[in-house]
Amino acid sequence: MKDDILLRDLLDFLDGSPTASLAVSCLAARLQENGFTRLEESGGLSAPPGTRFYIVRSSSSIIAGIAGAQPARDTGFRIIGAHTDFPGFRVKPCPDRKTEGISAIGVEVYGGPIMATWFDRDLSVAGTLALSRGDGISRAHFVLRDPILRMASPAIHLERETNKDGFKVDAEKNTPLIFSTSGAAFDDILCMACRNADVDRAEVAGWSMEVWDPQPAVAGGLDGDFIFSGRLDNLAMCHAALEALILAGEGPSTTLITLFNSEEVGSRTLNGAGSLFLDSVMERLAEDRESYFRSIPRSVQVSADGAHGLHPNYAGKHDPGCRPLLNGGPVIKVNAQERYTSTDLTSAYFSTCAQRCGVEVQYFVSRNDMPCGSTIGPVTSSRTGIRSVDAGNPMLSMHSVRETAGAKDHGAMVKVLTEHLRGGVGLAD
Ligand code: CO
Repeated sequence: MKDDILLRDLLDFLDGSPTASLAVSCLAARLQENGFTRLEESGGLSAPPGTRFYIVRSSSSIIAGIAGAQPARDTGFRIIGAHTDFPGFRVKPCPDRKTEGISAIGVEVYGGPIMATWFDRDLSVAGTLALSRGDGISRAHFVLRDPILRMASPAIHLERETNKDGFKVDAEKNTPLIFSTSGAAFDDILCMACRNADVDRAEVAGWSMEVWDPQPAVAGGLDGDFIFSGRLDNLAMCHAALEALILAGEGPSTTLITLFNSEEVGSRTLNGAGSLFLDSVMERLAEDRESYFRSIPRSVQVSADGAHGLHPNYAGKHDPGCRPLLNGGPVIKVNAQERYTSTDLTSAYFSTCAQRCGVEVQYFVSRNDMPCGSTIGPVTSSRTGIRSVDAGNPMLSMHSVRETAGAKDHGAMVKVLTEHLRGGVGLAD
């Protein structure tokens, strides 16, 4: 895929994915177009060589792969891990907050958003409706794109010191989103969601609603050097993983992309990286427990997640030696507290994959006075015993409602991940 087509495809994917479940729906549609078949955990997971398959758990996590020509016990698995969720706000149950004649809804914080960035933007909601019909409970998606909601900031005259002291947010008192001066209530928003999903309001027995910013993702900067979008952490890496899986095609080893929900809240959910979703799929693909255990020391994972690019206006926040630049190539992330999985061997593995396709790599290490975040890498690697490297593309404003990345890095990351899945680079046991 040419770089400009790849970038357009990423922007479309970002716009089509206001929630983790919708991201998984987009990924599944893309897999179907490329000859992948959905398998069910409740059915058989047998996959003869060359089988293109995917499995969805609880609508918001997905594992997709291509069965290799050799048995997993002989060649191991080549894996890319990423996460489908992103920080933000979820509508609370009983959300009506009518104050001073203005209707508003109360929200809960999900993960660690930069809350100040959500203020004064044209916001909307997306999510799912749980429908109670004669034959049980089912789910329908909805996506509203009209700017029906606002998290409004106080005027400068009410908070004179805001530029000097920073815009402080009381997550309970300041975040209710306003939407009407004519007495409308939350149920009016719910009815709008029902119309969007084409379902009957009377059938709605439950719902899950996330606030999102419907401003489209764009290529920005004078020469299109940047990507400006919400949810780049970590939908950009989900997209790169999908592209790499399709481009790599069938090889000797079974390839897997494992995209989990719940990373931003600690991964301990039924379909997070802390669950046994990956382990059970690998064991069933290996066909028996002994073969599965033999496959482990031969497997390699790239845990792909956004990295902090050097911010020119905050350059002092970075390590003096490792200064990853936007459009400078994928970043290998290293941490002595083992919050990233990269080791001497696995870092060399990733940089060798990069070298083979002509891509430069950069390194990230945090300052000792500024602890770093983490990824799904240590969660899956410590449990399964699979060797892993943490890498990601450099970005600015991570966890802002509108993040910034380098447009050239995306194609570079796809190349390296494709090389990894092709399995041409060996890694001693
Ligand atoms: Co992330």
